[in-house]
Amino acid sequence: MGFLDGLFGNKKGGSVIGVDVGSSSLKVVQLRREGGTAVLETYGEIALGPYAGGQVGQATNLPADKIAETLKDLLREANVTTKNAGLSIPFSRSLLTLVSLPRRANDEEQKTVISLEARKYIPVPVQEVQLDWFIVPEAIPEGGTPSSNVQVLLVAVHNDELTLLQKVVEGAGLETSFFEIEIFSTIRSVVDEPVKPVMVLDIGASATKVYVVERGVVALSHNIRQGGQDVTRTIASAHGLEVSKAESLKKEHGFTDGNASYERKTIELVFSRIFDEAKRALTKYETAHQKAVSALILTGGGGVTKDLAAYAKSFFSIDVHVADPFAKTSAPAFMRPVLQEIGPEFAVAVGLALRKLEELN
Ligand SMILES: Nc1ncnc2c1ncn2[C@@H]1O[C@H](COP(=O)(O)OP(=O)(O)OP(=O)(O)O)[C@@H](O)[C@H]1O
Ligand SMILES: [Mg+2]
Repeated sequence: MGFLDGLFGNKKGGSVIGVDVGSSSLKVVQLRREGGTAVLETYGEIALGPYAGGQVGQATNLPADKIAETLKDLLREANVTTKNAGLSIPFSRSLLTLVSLPRRANDEEQKTVISLEARKYIPVPVQEVQLDWFIVPEAIPEGGTPSSNVQVLLVAVHNDELTLLQKVVEGAGLETSFFEIEIFSTIRSVVDEPVKPVMVLDIGASATKVYVVERGVVALSHNIRQGGQDVTRTIASAHGLEVSKAESLKKEHGFTDGNASYERKTIELVFSRIFDEAKRALTKYETAHQKAVSALILTGGGGVTKDLAAYAKSFFSIDVHVADPFAKTSAPAFMRPVLQEIGPEFAVAVGLALRKLEELN
């Protein structure tokens, strides 16, 4: 790709990239700050499947040096002109838990309480993870007093994942100031609702990440171990097709009726399983918080599936939006239809680049 840069000029100063290390593909988005807007300079994607002896659209588990090599190819093909990068951490390699802990007036004491209590919630030895946390700002009603507990979002990431990403960064010749769990990147690029809870479904290749965001905070998150590759495999086996053929048919037709290659009920079967599990998470949130989720945002490559939004709407009986992360960037009008269509795949990369841009200020 990289066909955008000729159009936008090629200023190198102040450009940043977001790099999404997905299980099935690497994605990059390059942005530049111009006044108050984030200008889209270039973007690109490269499938990892073929580098792992598999097919486009299939999940991989490649070593750092292979990922770095592939990333170098992508940076070249997309005409990326900067080394300033932010990278994503897969949700499956991390842990997010919202816990309620006793409030302490003193900051130091509060830190001690959190770090001692955190251990109880992390199901692996603490030395195997990097631990971080955020205290969720409380919405205190006028004239009210803070509650006796604080809400704390605990975040843990496997050390070996961070080591892998560090090697990828070095191998690809990039410079990075942060790794961010993909959920936070996506929230930045696609969730605009400031108050009401919304549910995000990031349908990737190997997994679907489902989470509820309320006032910008992840109130619940869950990893469903099924994604786009399961859709493709099911179409392939149900209709005796090669995986690569099933993949391209799926991308062409999605849920659209009246295609002779596979039946709608085949694709519906897989999505209904994913949605069933997502619905359980949704119900769990609504029961625990006594609040209704107001909308569903579809993202990830699977979110591009034709007519999926209509099916999701009838399945969940709530408002459904398909993510449009490039709407947060400035690009020529004629590019809009394309950017809107492929947007869901780039939500993580756009969110990472937006954070990296904020750092420049
Ligand atoms: N137009 C489309 N219609 C239907 N499915 C699509 C389309 N485009 C991509 N996909 C599917 O999306 C999946 C890849 O999505 P994505 O790029 O978000 O995954 P990933 O980030 O590599 O994976 P993960 O998030 O699980 O690590 C593939 O299974 C692919 O078949
Ligand atoms: Mg992904």
